[in-house]
This record gives sequence, C-alpha cells and structure tokens, in this order.
Amino acid sequence: MQLFDVYPINNITIVKGDGSYIWDDAGNKYLDFYGGHAVISIGHTNPYYVKRLTSQLNKIGFYSNSIKIPLQQELAEKLGKVSGKDDYQLFLCNSGAEANENAMKLASFHTGRKKIVAFSKAFHGRTSLAVAATDTPSIVAPVNQTDNVVFLPFNDVAALHAYFSEHGSEVAAVIVEGIQGVGGINVASEDFLKAIRSLCDKHGSVYIADSVQCGYGRTGKFFSHDYAGVNADIYTMAKGMGNGFPVGGIIIAPALHAKHGMLGTTFGGNHLACAAALAVLEVIEGDNLLENAENVGNYIINELKQISELQNVRGRGLMIGFDVPEQHKELKKNLLSKHRIFTGEAKPNVIRLLPALNIQKQDVDVLLNAIRAELTSNN
Ligand SMILES: Cc1ncc(COP(=O)(O)O)c(C=O)c1O
Repeated sequence: MQLFDVYPINNITIVKGDGSYIWDDAGNKYLDFYGGHAVISIGHTNPYYVKRLTSQLNKIGFYSNSIKIPLQQELAEKLGKVSGKDDYQLFLCNSGAEANENAMKLASFHTGRKKIVAFSKAFHGRTSLAVAATDTPSIVAPVNQTDNVVFLPFNDVAALHAYFSEHGSEVAAVIVEGIQGVGGINVASEDFLKAIRSLCDKHGSVYIADSVQCGYGRTGKFFSHDYAGVNADIYTMAKGMGNGFPVGGIIIAPALHAKHGMLGTTFGGNHLACAAALAVLEVIEGDNLLENAENVGNYIINELKQISELQNVRGRGLMIGFDVPEQHKELKKNLLSKHRIFTGEAKPNVIRLLPALNIQKQDVDVLLNAIRAELTSNN
C-alpha cells in the first residue's frame, strides 16, 4: 500500500530528539526552530515528560469518557491556575481543528444562531466548520462551503463595527487567532480584540480565541489574547498542549452551560493525553517557561531587527516572523540544507520561528549567525 501523497516533504528521516535538537538516520544533528509546527513546547523527549507518560502508560493508557478520569479534573485545575482562568470549564478533544469545531458548535448551541465571523488569512483547521472558517479556498471542499461563515478584514475595527451594526443579532461567534500563524505571523491589535469583546457583549455573540498555535505560553503570556486585557468566552488549544502527544481542548467561560450529550469524543481526555498535558503544564510552571519565552523572544526579535536585509520582523515571544526579500528567497532552504536548522514558512516569503519554550540564547545565536552568513554569501 502507498501513502496518500498530500504532503510536500523534506527528504530527511528524524530518528532521535533531545531538547531543541533532533538527529536524522545518518547521525546528522539539527537545531529545531520549527517544533514540528509549534508542537514541541517543552523540548523533544523532555525527561520529566517521558517519565510521566511512561509511568501513566504502565498503569493505564486509555479508557473512554464513560467512567471517572480524575486526571481530567487534575488537568482542569492546573490549567486554571497556570492560565489564570480558574473559573472556566474544560472540554478535552484531540486536535486543533476539533477544538475549533467544538467551540463554534457550542457557540451556536448557546446562542441559537448560525453566523460565524472569521477574518482574512485565518487558519482554523480542516474539519468541516473549521475549514469553512479558514481563508484558503483551495482546501475547502464543495461540501464544506457555507454562507454561515463571513470573512471580514483582519485588524479592521471599522469593518467589524459596520458588520455588527447590520447583522449583530445573527452572529453566533467571532473566531480569531491572537497571532495568525499559517497566515504569516500577523498580530491581532489590542484595539481589534477589545472591539471584538465589546461587540460580542453588546450583541450576545461568543468570542472564540483560537489559541491553537499562539497559546499555551508561546508568546510569554499563557494566551496571546491576554495582551489585549480582555477575556474571550472560549479559548481553543492543541499543538503545544501535549508536546507531541495529540491532545486538544477548549476552555469555556462560566456563562456557557453544559448539557449532557451536546459535545463528545471517544479519545478526548484519555489518561495518557491528560498525563501529557499535565506534564507540559508542570514543566512550564516549574521552569518559568512563560518568562523564558518572553525574554528569549524579545532577544530574537531585537537581533533580527538589526539585520537590515530582513523586513518587517514581527511577533511576540517565541512566535516570530519576518519577510525575506526575493533575492534571498533560498534562505529557509539553505538554513536547513547547509546549516541544519529547521524553520517554518508562510507564503509567499515569510520565515516563521516556533521553537520550544525553553530554547536558550546560545541556540538563538547559532540561528542568527547562520542567517547572517547566508545573507552575506548571497549578496
Ligand atoms: C491557529 C490554528 N488553528 C487550528 C489549527 C488546526 O490544528 P490541527 O492541525 O491540530 O487540527 C492550526 C494548525 O496549524 C492552527 O495554526
């Protein structure tokens, strides 16, 4: 049997990881500024994480949501403490798309409405409503096309007011990334997020903060939306939540009420997934990783801004992007092939940095020196 060929891949086989480094099957060592797409939050094979998962697996790995799973309550309490949202409610699932799908569904149940407001360049996942709210027509199948989703320009407060003044009573939810990831590292302005909050309050709509990529400590605050100083009604999470173990979830404000059967999943919240999510939070808390993400992130951003060839350096904490001019368009490829450094990208010419939250300055210097060397050799 062949694999269904949907991914353009690098011809590299990774067999081992340790912290921010990974090795291929020929023994070559790589520095990881990509984290498998923002997933590796506390470092590859983090020893505490490996121990907690192994120990849980030796007891029990899975049972469904038909029995009590005290690890879920333990996770809810820890998440409430670390995120500062202790009065929220936790629903666990398995991926980012599923988290967003459940968040929008819940908003629709809660309001009895159908309209979802999403934004230009948004990416919310590939399940039916999540992909319909994603601004990439080529990945939306005909069956997923719907008039229930409306796209407005990102960071445009006036357009938001104009839409709500005419259609506010139809809007179930506004879904927005605190920093757009796939869209190219576009930071939502504080005014924009505050306007979403106040319009949702005024019209009885639900503010969904897609924190799948920008959340879980990546930006130096637990949720990047927190920079705006207002709370969302639902935060969606995945990626860094399990440091590679597939786990996602949504946290839900107290005003939204649960009813038996309204949401559900077979795998979500299983023992092993909870152990993974707990291990990540314990390391984030114990090793002060929010602080590290902010400090090292500021260092990277400041240093990148000194490199005159790079344009529009932007981001927060360890979610950073910059534009690469046309004459240096091979930069990402060369960082990998010549310097063995993984980075992320966004079309057409953005390099995205999404390292583990415990990345150190000396690792950053390796990247910066490689970028400088490439830009010089290509002048
Ligand atoms: C902001 C955002 N939301 C949702 C998703 C979908 O997550 P998953 O691939 O886990 O379904 C992604 C994935 O890149 C994302 O970046």
